[in-house]
Amino acid sequence: MSGLVQLAVRSIRGWSVDKLTARCFSGVTTVLEYKEYGDPQKVVTKREVNVPALKEGEVLVRMVAAPINPADINTIQGVYAIKPPLPSVPGSEGVGEVMEVSESGTNGSIQPGDRVIPRLSGLGTWRTHIVASAADLIKVPADIDVVATATVAVNPGTAYRMLKDFVPLKNGDTVIQNGANSAVGQAVIQIAAALGLKTVNVVRDRPDILELKKKLTGLGATVVVTETELRKSEEVKALPKPKLALNCVSGRSGTEILRQLEPAGTMVTYGGMSRQPVTAPVGALIFTDVILRGFWMTRWNQEHVRHPKRREMLDDLFQLIRQDRLQPPDHNLVPFADYHTALVNAMPSDGKLGKKQILVF
Ligand SMILES: NC(=O)c1ccc[n+]([C@@H]2O[C@H](COP(=O)([O-])OP(=O)(O)OC[C@H]3O[C@@H](n4cnc5c(N)ncnc54)[C@H](OP(=O)(O)O)[C@@H]3O)[C@@H](O)[C@H]2O)c1
Repeated sequence: MSGLVQLAVRSIRGWSVDKLTARCFSGVTTVLEYKEYGDPQKVVTKREVNVPALKEGEVLVRMVAAPINPADINTIQGVYAIKPPLPSVPGSEGVGEVMEVSESGTNGSIQPGDRVIPRLSGLGTWRTHIVASAADLIKVPADIDVVATATVAVNPGTAYRMLKDFVPLKNGDTVIQNGANSAVGQAVIQIAAALGLKTVNVVRDRPDILELKKKLTGLGATVVVTETELRKSEEVKALPKPKLALNCVSGRSGTEILRQLEPAGTMVTYGGMSRQPVTAPVGALIFTDVILRGFWMTRWNQEHVRHPKRREMLDDLFQLIRQDRLQPPDHNLVPFADYHTALVNAMPSDGKLGKKQILVF
């Protein structure tokens, strides 16, 4: 690791408020942008932009950390549900620090030094500085780990909502999921454990499968099985049948977790990592009467922009993080200048994803 990278990593871990940067801010921000949809490694470029004077109710935010999520990649590729007008700055979540507020103020809602996250996706977080309306930002607590804060909204939020909103679950009930090693999957394991739920976690096979099983069990997973082990697993059979299945992968893997549901159980599809459709066996629909639902965090946030449930969810998630019951996924901190490396690592050619790439500014 170069000295510069070490410095960036040290400063992010300790959340050193970089007063020097604030004082020396030149009025120029470095942004990543894409002018056409396509391969992120090719279409995303960097450029410098003058920061405009703050208008009424606006704030200047220095970005501190922002992850690369699959939805960001798909959005740049032009294959996501949202196609932003071009040119566009990518990045749907992240955390920043407020450097300046407009002269008219922000009704006291946000002050210089506050940490903030975007209220909705689409703000474009892959840039050193953002000018935004204070109303488009949510103030977050200052005592939380930076990476956990930068990654709390999309994936733990999705896990939290899917566990809360679809099926009434009580202590000891079972939830099954595939893609259990994904960021959402790891959040599901931890939040479910905190709620007293048992989890059956399906992962892809790999040479170091025992290591992965140990890692996910360490997070609170009840059982971790590979896709091929699922049907025959005695550990799975010994648990109450799942009331809820969370489908990250779809395709065959989705069908397999659907088969495990108790009668009238619900499968919530939130991802299509296999790029295959969801296929429901006829028997599961007729004889087991399973319910198929979908979930999209973006839509939920749009429908609950200022709803108290939003604050309640964030407060609950931050509390779990404080209690060390919700850790961010394994990640690499990548200096913003090395964004291309981060994009390459976020899209491995063998399809085997490693760690979540987090841009640090
Ligand atoms: N609907 C929503 O609101 C919402 C919100 C957040 C995320 N998502 C979606 O949830 C999914 C996971 O997101 P994330 O940020 O948690 O992802 P992530 O941390 O980048 O992990 C992706 C996971 O997908 C697995 N995977 C990739 N290709 C696969 C395949 N062909 N078959 C089986 N598993 C495969 C990987 O398994 P390995 O561990 O084996 O590599 C990895 O665990 C994405 O599709 C994302 O778009 C949806």
